[in-house]
Amino acid sequence: MKTKFIVVGTGNRGLGCFAKGLLAFDTKGLPEFRERADLVALVDTNEKRGRAAAVEIKLPDLPVFPDIASASAAVDADWAIVTTPDFTHADVVCAALKSGLNVLVDKPLATSAWECDRIISTMNDTGRKVLVGHNMRYQDYTLQAAKLVRSGGIGEILSLEAAEVLDYSHGGDYFHRWHSIFGKSAGLMNHKCCHHLDVINWILDDDPVEVSAFGTRSFYRERPDMKHGDRCSECGISGSCPHYFDMDKWDGIYRRIYKDAESADGYVRDLCVFSERHTINDHESLNIRYRKGTLASFYLLTYAPKEFSYFYFTGTEGRMEMGHDSATGKPYLRVLRPSGAVEEIAFEKGRGEHGHGGADIKLIADILGLEGSEPLQRAVPAEARRAVLIADLAARSIAGGGRPVKAEEAGGDYPPEPPRPQ
Ligand SMILES: NC(=O)c1ccc[n+]([C@@H]2O[C@H](COP(=O)([O-])OP(=O)(O)OC[C@H]3O[C@@H](n4cnc5c(N)ncnc54)[C@H](O)[C@@H]3O)[C@@H](O)[C@H]2O)c1
Repeated sequence: MKTKFIVVGTGNRGLGCFAKGLLAFDTKGLPEFRERADLVALVDTNEKRGRAAAVEIKLPDLPVFPDIASASAAVDADWAIVTTPDFTHADVVCAALKSGLNVLVDKPLATSAWECDRIISTMNDTGRKVLVGHNMRYQDYTLQAAKLVRSGGIGEILSLEAAEVLDYSHGGDYFHRWHSIFGKSAGLMNHKCCHHLDVINWILDDDPVEVSAFGTRSFYRERPDMKHGDRCSECGISGSCPHYFDMDKWDGIYRRIYKDAESADGYVRDLCVFSERHTINDHESLNIRYRKGTLASFYLLTYAPKEFSYFYFTGTEGRMEMGHDSATGKPYLRVLRPSGAVEEIAFEKGRGEHGHGGADIKLIADILGLEGSEPLQRAVPAEARRAVLIADLAARSIAGGGRPVKAEEAGGDYPPEPPRPQ
């Protein structure tokens, strides 16, 4: 029997990763997904986008609903895949659970620790499952790293340095969209770095207990000197701007999904990145203390010429270095031993197909019960909460001038938005 899915939120992820992935559209999935999965409905508050998404997957008559409660009342389904903006996750996930559905919610679990707690308690009350789309766990290099560290391969972990550095195009893209409003994403430490923070928490297998942080917005500011427009599609400097977002790129999918649906809710996908409408930071620096004593530093930067990341775990029996090289973009994983020896750790290179080097395919395969993934890779809400908690504590610290904030201070309300830059 096939597993029946409703995709909630038919934008970039809902359509591009999950609807197309489940249907094994083009290179977006595996042929065996079609034998295991049925897409029975779409949900979107923007009906035009929902309908356009149905056309994109060549199922123009697929029912489209404005909310999950009406969808689950009308069609028989097993799982909801929630790919709505982060600030809606708690309400949408809880509604899906109360409708009797299991839920795969894309990362981050929510925008605050207290919303994560709401999800966890609703999951427990309803007895349904919730998995979180932390697809970075489905990259083989992170899996090998997790196995190595968790099995004591570099001894007791004493310290960790990590960073996520995004280039102008990738980092800037968040400043075109809803993500740059703190109330919608809880900032990029939550929205984007939850991937990296989750991988750190997962590899360490430990709970963050205290965070202090600084952050500000220095680059994505108003730039009247550039004589730019309010949005890329109506901008006089589009030919020279490194942040230009072309709504007609590829086969016109962005125009069909976003531009043609603007009249339904006013959402504009290509707003200029140089603006003071943003309420998030564009770089942040965190210090994190873990329950078992590990101290970690984590840095986010969103405006570099080249992008890269690194995670350096120093243990009593060696130092594990994992990341993406800034010159080649390639992933690496190695261990430096106290003797000076360098051990390169073998891992499967990501495949080119679909998103995130094949990790999205593995995530979908895992939900469908296909072999290939390991239970260790599944992110349950209590684990995903730890990444949201770090971002939540960091926001409280930044608003408090960098003061250390303990885990107990979160869990009752939303984190505050950062002070506006001077
Ligand atoms: N795992 C990953 O690698 C990854 C990558 C990108 C985005 N994401 C996550 O996926 C989610 C969606 O991001 P996106 O880039 O697809 O955003 P998007 O803006 O392209 O799409 C979101 C869709 O949700 C709809 N929507 C908004 N509120 C809704 C509600 N209450 N009920 C139903 N539909 C609603 C919008 O109209 C829109 O169509 C986010 O949580 C984001 O963090 C995950």
